[in-house]
Amino acid sequence: MSLTIGVDVGGTKIAAGVVDEKGVIGARARRDTPSQDPDAIVESIIAVTRELAEGQQIDAVGVGSAGFVDSARSTVMFAPNLAWRDVPVRQRVADATGLPTVVENDANSAAWGEFRFGAAEDVDDMILLTIGTGVGGGVVLGGEVYRGAHGVAAEMGHIRMVPDGHLCGCGLRGCLEAYASGTALVREARTAASLPSAERLLSLAGGDSERITGPMVTAAAADGDELATVLMTQLARWLGEAMGSFTALFDPAVFVLGGGVSAAGDLLLGPAEETLRKQITGRGHRPEPEIRLATLGNDAGISGAADLARK
Ligand code: BGC
Ligand code: NA
Ligand code: ZN
Repeated sequence: MSLTIGVDVGGTKIAAGVVDEKGVIGARARRDTPSQDPDAIVESIIAVTRELAEGQQIDAVGVGSAGFVDSARSTVMFAPNLAWRDVPVRQRVADATGLPTVVENDANSAAWGEFRFGAAEDVDDMILLTIGTGVGGGVVLGGEVYRGAHGVAAEMGHIRMVPDGHLCGCGLRGCLEAYASGTALVREARTAASLPSAERLLSLAGGDSERITGPMVTAAAADGDELATVLMTQLARWLGEAMGSFTALFDPAVFVLGGGVSAAGDLLLGPAEETLRKQITGRGHRPEPEIRLATLGNDAGISGAADLARK
C-alpha cells in the first residue's frame, strides 16, 4: 500500500502523519508553529517530514498550510495569520527531503479529508468551514477540489459580512473571519469581561480577562453559562448567515464544520442551522444542504493533504 506524508500547518501547531490510501494515519510528529518566522516554519515542516520518512518508503508529501497557495500548488503567496509572503514551500521541502511535494491550502486539505474519509464521504458536493485562529473554507464540487483560476478560491473567511466592520488579519474590515473565528470569539469574550455576567469566564481565566481562551468559552457554554452561550450563539449566527450565501453560490449537499471551535458541537450547530434555514432563498421549493460536524477532527488536514499529494 502506498504511503504519503501529510503535514498540517496551522497558526499554533504543525501536525504531521504517515497516511495510507484509506486515510489511516500511522506514525505522527508535531511541533509548535514559529508563526512569526517564515524560515523557521519551513524548517519545522522539513524536520517533521524527515522524522517520519526515516526508514520508510514514502511516495510523496502534501503540505496543507493556512494561506493563499498558487495554482501550481507550490508557493504560499500570502497568509493573513502567518508571516508568509511568497514562500516557495514546495521547492524547499522537496529539495531538503528528496520527496515529491505539493502544497495545498489547509482548509482545502481538511475539506478533502472529510470528503474522502470523514463526515461527507457519501456526497459529491460539499463545503467545509474550519473555525479556528482563522475561518477557512474548502469547496468540493463534483468530487474535485475547486481551486479557481489562481489557486485561491474558497477563501470563505474573507467574504465581507459588515462594511467597515472589525479589522481582519488580512488587513480588510468586516470579513467573516473577524466575526466567526476563535480569535473573534476570544476578542468578544475579553471585551465582555467587565460585565457582571462574565463572572464564570473570568474565574476560569484566574481573574485576568486577557487570559480568557476559546476553549474556556466553549467549556463555560457547555456548562450552561449565559454569557458564553450568547457569545457562541453570535458566532454561530454569523456562520449561518454566510452559509446562506454559500448555498446560493454552490448548492452543496453538505456543510461540514471543523476546526477548534467546532468542539462546541450542538452549541454551534444549533444556532448556525437555525440561521442558515432562514437565509435559504426559495425555501420550501428546493432541496437544502445538511450541516454536519467534522468527524476527523485535527486529522482531516493531515489525511487530506496526504491524499491530495497522490493526485
Ligand atoms: C486564511 C486561509 C486559511 C484559514 C484557516 C484564513 O485566514 O486566509 O487561507 O485557510 O485562515 O487557517
Ligand atoms: Na480554502
Ligand atoms: Zn479578511
